[in-house]
Amino acid sequence: MTAPSSSASFPTTRLRRNRLNHWCREMLAEHRLHPSDLILPLFIQEGSNTETPILSMPDVSRITLDILVKKAKSAKQLGIPAIALFPVVDVKLKSPYGDEALFPDNLVCRAIREVKNAVPDIGIITDVALDPYTSHGQDGVVENGKVMNDITVDILCKQAIVQAKAGCDIVAPSDMMDGRIGAIRKALDHEHLSDTSILAYSAKYVSHHYGPFRDAVDSKKLLGAADKREYQMDTANSDEAIREIALDINEGADMVMVKPGISYLDIVYRAATSFPVPVLAYQVSGEYAMVKAAAANGWIDGDQVMMEQLLSFKRAGARAILTYAALDIAGKIA
Ligand code: PBG
Repeated sequence: MTAPSSSASFPTTRLRRNRLNHWCREMLAEHRLHPSDLILPLFIQEGSNTETPILSMPDVSRITLDILVKKAKSAKQLGIPAIALFPVVDVKLKSPYGDEALFPDNLVCRAIREVKNAVPDIGIITDVALDPYTSHGQDGVVENGKVMNDITVDILCKQAIVQAKAGCDIVAPSDMMDGRIGAIRKALDHEHLSDTSILAYSAKYVSHHYGPFRDAVDSKKLLGAADKREYQMDTANSDEAIREIALDINEGADMVMVKPGISYLDIVYRAATSFPVPVLAYQVSGEYAMVKAAAANGWIDGDQVMMEQLLSFKRAGARAILTYAALDIAGKIA
């Protein structure tokens, strides 16, 4: 916002007056971080009563469904409105077409049912993409070395229906295929699942910040030297992000996402000021890990930097933030 030309200058105006006291800073704060801004992503695995730490993501583990239920309860108690589920799929269940994604009794579907049963009023967001399920680690079907758009979209529609039928509240396509939001909306509506929302990962960049996530879901070695440049967005572009978001809104997205977050706050800001649609942002695994690593070395105050980063998402206009630190930070705010 530009200052009105009539505003007085120093020494009549002294901006430090508003910063002088704690109560005044509190009273005048333009943005605030609240637990209801935070969404907790969780990695789920088969088995019982097991937490497997993820080395590249300090304080984050793969958890079994019994522990998932406990985490969902803690999240709810702390005022976190929703969780986002990511499955660690046994390599024996992975295939070129990612068939396990369509199995109504797969890990994600069982997780949805268990959480809904135990903690009915927490929102459940599920990832629509094939990478946890494909033997090559790509988000879509590969034919002749190419990730096939339209064949993949057909499968994603079925995956979204399976998740919605299991009871998830929001399906979140993170695959970056063209036309998938419209196709998924149509498919859900056709199955009388019109209450299921779509959170579109509209501006998802091809980023090197996803490394720890790929450790967590074990897709790094499967992906090998391949990358996702054919479908995830080029880091150099921002107008293109606006086009992606506009298309997804036209196709029926209820909310859109920018990802990664911290390195792409300009996109969050542009999206939030350009469209009257909730814009969410994802502080991704690599961004989280960098804060944790520096903190572990005593180089920064991890909690304070985490809060500062999360607040910067709010300043940029994000309505909610996916962060692996959600439980921790919600606890600190409380
Ligand atoms: C894949 C997916 C990825 C993330 C969320 N969904 C990784 C990728 O695109 O390779 C990354 C999240 C993170 O790094 O925290 N569909």
